[in-house]
Amino acid sequence: MPDGTVSPATNRARREMKNGVESNDSSRYVPPEHDDVETQPAVSRRDFFKRLGASGLVAIAPGAATLNAEAASPDGTPEQVHLTWGEEPASSVVVSWASVAQATNPRVHLRSSSGHQRTVHALQRTYTDGLNGETVFTYHAPLHGLKPGTQHEYSVTADNDSNAATPFSASFHTAPRGRAPFRWTSFGDLATPNTVWVLSSPQSRFAVEAVEQFQPLFHLLNGDLCYANLNPAAQPAVWRDFGNNNQTSAAFRPWMPCLGNHEVEFNNGTQGFTSYLTRYWLPENGSRFRGRWYSFRVSSVLFISLDADDVIYQDGAAFVAGPSPLVPAASTGNAPIAPGTSFYIRGYSGGEQTQWLERTLREARDNDDVDWIVVQMHQDALSSSKTGNGSDKGIREAWLPLFERYGVDLVLCGHDHDYERSWPVKGCNHNSGRDVSTGAAVDTLQPKPAATSVARDGSFDTSHGTIHLILGGGGTSAPLDVYGIDSDNQSPQAKVFTKPNRPVPGTTAGAFVRQPADAVEDAIWSARRDPSTGYGIAVFDLDPGQPGKKTRITVSYYHAPGADQIPTANYELLETIVLAKHRRD
Ligand SMILES: [Fe+2]
Ligand SMILES: [Fe+2]
Repeated sequence: MPDGTVSPATNRARREMKNGVESNDSSRYVPPEHDDVETQPAVSRRDFFKRLGASGLVAIAPGAATLNAEAASPDGTPEQVHLTWGEEPASSVVVSWASVAQATNPRVHLRSSSGHQRTVHALQRTYTDGLNGETVFTYHAPLHGLKPGTQHEYSVTADNDSNAATPFSASFHTAPRGRAPFRWTSFGDLATPNTVWVLSSPQSRFAVEAVEQFQPLFHLLNGDLCYANLNPAAQPAVWRDFGNNNQTSAAFRPWMPCLGNHEVEFNNGTQGFTSYLTRYWLPENGSRFRGRWYSFRVSSVLFISLDADDVIYQDGAAFVAGPSPLVPAASTGNAPIAPGTSFYIRGYSGGEQTQWLERTLREARDNDDVDWIVVQMHQDALSSSKTGNGSDKGIREAWLPLFERYGVDLVLCGHDHDYERSWPVKGCNHNSGRDVSTGAAVDTLQPKPAATSVARDGSFDTSHGTIHLILGGGGTSAPLDVYGIDSDNQSPQAKVFTKPNRPVPGTTAGAFVRQPADAVEDAIWSARRDPSTGYGIAVFDLDPGQPGKKTRITVSYYHAPGADQIPTANYELLETIVLAKHRRD
């Protein structure tokens, strides 16, 4: 199933939502004025019972639902525990988690390898899902002043933790300071192991286990985290299954996410990101769009995480296909969402993200401690999946010229549930695409390969061009590893969105569809595709090199043969490439 379309199961969930609640046609839909995530100091035990009062009702937060008398002893047991880097990965890590009900005195107990111990109290962030009315409680404990390159042990608990005697415990490593070798991994499009949910598959558990198998310092999760927006009646439950599946790895090493089209949810914030932003505490970007994009540096590599929803033409986010409307639970006060409505957020930052990107890239180029720049985003500038979405001209217009100008080495994406590696690309050809309906020439800004073979030493020098990797093989139930072929010359062919594909009436009365990409081009930039399976994980090892010599990144892609038919824990090496360039010092 192409990404972003609505399956029969989704429609079933929608029907159940409508049948399960009273429709309130008279209520007026009022878009949220802002979607700043509410952050508060967590409630202490004394405050909690003080607020409980004589009525047995407790106000959780302004605008949030109330708990009934049964919640007088709510379950604050930590779950969905996960780590992210703080502002400085060598010395700061954020421990985040959720609990079924409000936690009392939520906290992290930290023990460093030197024996130093401390307790850090967590901040609470809550939201009430705008479709089913469920309130979600999350907790975040930023840990600062940590020793670089060091193992730290921690436990997470609360006064109302049912496991208080043996609270959840794990350990992590801080990043090294200065140039040092390290490993990271990446994939996107993970979903959950609970097959009740649309696009979920048992493969997503094996994918998380694969991260642990490779023991990276951290993992990049490049968007489409759990597809909650395809399960609109149960978004918080989908996120919960996702968080508990990831905990196996994400409690032991930071998982750094980026936003995809399936993080966009109706009635959850101005861009639909409230579920994501509440759960993830991410580095600052200095704008009013905190959490949508950010950067961090480990060793000599600058990592930049972008939200391509802001620049793509493709309309692939939350969508009501119809013919029935999507009817939120009555408790939300939100009006039914009409068939044909899609949550299209292209341009939401008004250019702020691109300005931030240019500033961040310029600073990196002025910093001789940065040898490598790696970008993570969800959607694709260079993808030739035929069953998937393909490429998007919006990214080519907005960001590829910046990647070129400032020497971005690697771009890691997902969105198409497969593997594809480009040659290093630089510049573009004009008017080499073709409109799929009229056959007329279209300017797809076709990327030009800077090399179509490896150098004599067997490596790629990415100072001559950027390599794009599609790593969308996390664990969804929809592999998209069928690739385009130009029937005229048998060379790889890519679909390209060059304009918005907003909903149009479909063949079923009252129902709407979104058309696939409007253009095709020869994928002269495509170097490797994996038609054997849509599942895999990329492993990256940095060799910082010596002053005046070369530094290298070894990229190994492991795929899961057979996973398209039967989920499997078996990941095998598909290919290894080496990127090499001169150090800047
Ligand atoms: Fe996806
Ligand atoms: Fe996607």
